[in-house]
Amino acid sequence: MLRYGTLPIDPPLILAPMAGVTDRDFRLIVRRIGGVGLVSMEFVSSKAILSGNAKTRELMRFSDAERPLAIQIYGSDIPTMAAAAAVVEEIGADVCDINMGCPANKVLKGCAGAALMGDLGLAERMIATVKRRLSIPLTVKFRLGLDDKRRNYLEMGRLCEANGVAAVAMHGRTAKQMFRGEADWSAIAQLKEVLSIPVIGNGDVRQPDDALKMMRSTGCDGVMIGRAATKNPWIFRQVAARLVGDEQAEPTLEDRRRLILGHFRLVAEREPTKFAMHKLRKFTGWYTHGLPHGRSLRQKINQLRDVESFLEAVESFFDEIMTEIAA
Ligand SMILES: Cc1cc2nc3c(=O)[nH]c(=O)nc-3n(C[C@H](O)[C@H](O)[C@H](O)COP(=O)(O)O)c2cc1C
Repeated sequence: MLRYGTLPIDPPLILAPMAGVTDRDFRLIVRRIGGVGLVSMEFVSSKAILSGNAKTRELMRFSDAERPLAIQIYGSDIPTMAAAAAVVEEIGADVCDINMGCPANKVLKGCAGAALMGDLGLAERMIATVKRRLSIPLTVKFRLGLDDKRRNYLEMGRLCEANGVAAVAMHGRTAKQMFRGEADWSAIAQLKEVLSIPVIGNGDVRQPDDALKMMRSTGCDGVMIGRAATKNPWIFRQVAARLVGDEQAEPTLEDRRRLILGHFRLVAEREPTKFAMHKLRKFTGWYTHGLPHGRSLRQKINQLRDVESFLEAVESFFDEIMTEIAA
């Protein structure tokens, strides 16, 4: 069984951290559907944690129903990162994760995220110092390297292992690639070969079967799924069923309807109208991907200005396609 230290991650399937996506509502949705062993919060700035920023504190709230939960921090200043990690532990997260893979310019410029792969000395000092402040498991998420000429993921993995990191997750792309090209799963296999701590594979698991293929072809101990979960939050349950030899049926339209409306009510209750509408539009786009008339619903909701008419539009969309399919 996959363990981070003594913490079991069962099934060995992890919701990837995604800024603007893996907020409390989405994590709860994924948990309720089931099949996920660990959920990740989107990355949080270590500086913002220490400055006591109210928005950041709100972002960091979670409920017991989400456990086990990892909180990911980023930054370049070692004492700030260590103090932020201590806060992560204090508020009760199960795992503290360091982001060493974010390729966004804003983060790279501050020498955080993937920039740390360009300075392994700094990365190592940071890992060692953060580790000393924690009693919960520390994990690190990184990419192949800054670019093709600087693929240093094996060194990065080794230094994580040497400094007491409980597990590493690797997205099989370089920072320069952003999300272009294909994730290189053979690099995940290589990393697995050289490390004895658990290796979590990440990148381009689009369908449930891809997760099994990744495990078979790389030997990785767990699979982290990001974008596919936004279109299909059932993917964890589908993979988990396959891991024990069951075939899980695709979610029905009724399942989708219940999920979407349930999620949207959570958002509507918590968020001010402007943010709620923005979030609802984004998620409707993902959730209705590939459904008949999905595009016309997406066009329609762009005209709507209030949450109630939004929810009504989604309800009648499902009524219509369910009647059409039954006919
Ligand atoms: C919208 C979005 C936001 C993301 N935010 C984060 C983040 O906060 N921290 C992080 O480590 N990775 C972040 N990622 C990268 C994902 O965690 C993951 O590594 C990447 O999407 C590849 O996995 P996938 O092919 O399963 O999506 C983000 C990805 C997306 C699409």
